[in-house]
Amino acid sequence: MSVRRARVVGWGGYLPPHVVTNDDLSRRIDTSDAWIVERTGIRQRHIASQGELTSDLATAAARRALDVAGMTAAQVDLIVLASTTPDETFPATATVVQRKLGMDGGAAFDIQAVCAGFVFALATADAFIRSNQCQAALVIGAETFSRLLDWNDRGTCVLFGDGAGAVVLRAEPGNGDGADRGVLSTHIHTDGRHHDMLYVNGGVSSTGTTGVVRMEGKDVFRHAVAKLADSVDEALAANGLGRGDIDWLVPHQANKRIIDATLRKLGLAEDKLVLTVDRHANTSAASVPLALADAAGDGRIRSGHLVLIEAIGGGLAWGSAAVRW
Ligand code: UT7
Repeated sequence: MSVRRARVVGWGGYLPPHVVTNDDLSRRIDTSDAWIVERTGIRQRHIASQGELTSDLATAAARRALDVAGMTAAQVDLIVLASTTPDETFPATATVVQRKLGMDGGAAFDIQAVCAGFVFALATADAFIRSNQCQAALVIGAETFSRLLDWNDRGTCVLFGDGAGAVVLRAEPGNGDGADRGVLSTHIHTDGRHHDMLYVNGGVSSTGTTGVVRMEGKDVFRHAVAKLADSVDEALAANGLGRGDIDWLVPHQANKRIIDATLRKLGLAEDKLVLTVDRHANTSAASVPLALADAAGDGRIRSGHLVLIEAIGGGLAWGSAAVRW
């Protein structure tokens, strides 16, 4: 059966140049490089400078993705941007990116699913392509998450960083099976009962302030390990594939211990893993597309590879995608 597939034809990442190491943090708060590395695997994070906006990071990543695709912005008719840290309350940061890219057509909007945002954005763009509502989409995850942090809360401020990643999806015909190239499936979930585990204590209609991140780290950790492995299995089952078919696992980069536990649950070897948390820390919606750009950019992820993506974040919101590169 002939179907429309959303094939990944471009990828790109952008990290702000300013790097903050664990030692830098330990001079400002009661923490240490040893604690952060042992508990999270994080060694450094990139932090956006004053005046460097989410849309700037997103536009830089999008330009790189378009370059790899060999396409111009005018050939894209949809931008879906996942972010928790928009430039302004409105309009959508995606529309700012649209203007910065010089696009004068198509549609652009934001998606909010915190750290799972890229999976939700990919699911949305894939649905638009499959249903013939667009031909080519930029799917972006971009964050200046450092602006939501309480720099006196050592339990959260050491964990996050800023950055952006993007992929270009283009409509192509497929056979409707797991051998097709493109997005094979997406699965998204939320459970609002877990709000208090991970949230920002502010907002337009509640406090009129931006707020800062509040997290019960241990509870999030427990849910992450259980839900992420199940999510990968859900993606495989939907495509009649098995764990042995996975070429690359590209997980949300929150904590190396969560990633290791998920790998163990799935029985996957370390050499199937794309890991960036050591260099990028947790960049929320940007973490998965940055990791994709890292591994596709250096030639680890190649044409025909089966890439399994998973992520979880505040909401709780989580999900997975199976992509044949
Ligand atoms: O994208 C999804 C978002 N978030 C996550 O995925 C995060 C999930 N959770 C985690 O990654 C982990 O729970 C953390 C890394 C946040 C914390 O690790 P943990 O092993 O769960 O540590 P803990 O919170 O139980 O804290 C253990 C100790 C505490 O001290 P006491 O009470 O044992 O004396 C903390 O006060 O470590 C202390 N601690 C720190 N010490 C040095 C907490 N943060 C720090 C720190 N430096 N930065």
